[in-house]
Amino acid sequence: MIFRYPFINRLSKIIWCSFLDLFTVIENRRSIRKYKQKSVDKEKIVKIFETTRLSPSAMNLQPYGFVIISKNNVIKEINSACNQIWDAPIMIAVCAFPNQAWVRDDGEEYWKADAAIAMSNISLAAYNLGLGTCWIVAFNEEKIKKILGVDSKARVVAMTPLGYPAENKGPVTKRKTLDELVHYDKW
Ligand SMILES: Cc1cc2nc3c(=O)[nH]c(=O)nc-3n(C[C@H](O)[C@H](O)[C@H](O)COP(=O)(O)O)c2cc1C
Repeated sequence: MIFRYPFINRLSKIIWCSFLDLFTVIENRRSIRKYKQKSVDKEKIVKIFETTRLSPSAMNLQPYGFVIISKNNVIKEINSACNQIWDAPIMIAVCAFPNQAWVRDDGEEYWKADAAIAMSNISLAAYNLGLGTCWIVAFNEEKIKKILGVDSKARVVAMTPLGYPAENKGPVTKRKTLDELVHYDKW
C-alpha cells in the first residue's frame, strides 16, 4: 500500500519489515502440510515475490520463473500429478531455464542451485508473513508442465503450497550437530 506522505511510507516499511529477525525465521520455519481454508492477500504474495526477486544467482542470470496457482480446479489437477495431496489456497511452481543459467567450465550446471535459493527465500519470506510452505519435489514433472503450460525449455524444480498453517510444529529440530557438519581449516 502506498501512502501520500513519504514519512508514513517509511514508517509502514519499518513496521512491515520488522516482523521477525532472520535468525528467528530460520529457527522456526517448518514444512507445513496442513492449511487453513483462509485465503492469502495479494499484498502478501507480492511481498514474497518482491523479496524472492532479490535472490542471488550464478552470474546474476536469474534463470527462473514462478507460477502462482489459486484456482481450485488447477490445484486439484496438480494433486493428480503429486505423490501427496496438497490442500492449500495457493500452490507455487518454481521453474528454471537450464539454457539461461550459468555453466562452469567443467560443465557443472547451476540452474537447480539458483532455483533452490529462490525457493528457500519464498519459504522464509512466507514464514515472516505468518504463512506456511513446504518444499515439494515428489511430483511428475511432465504432468505438472502440461497442467501449467510451462515453457518447454523450462524445468519445474520444486513446488510449494502457500497458506495459513493449520498445524503448529514448533522450532526446527532433528538436525546434525555443528561437529558433524563443520570443519575448520581442513575437512
Ligand atoms: C529438496 C527438498 C525436497 C523436499 N520434498 C518434499 C516432498 O516432496 N514432500 C514433502 O512432504 N516434503 C518435502 N520436503 C520437506 C522435507 O521433508 C523437510 O524440509 C525436512 O523433513 C525437514 O523438516 P522441516 O522443513 O519441517 O524443518 C523437501 C525438502 C527439500 C529441501
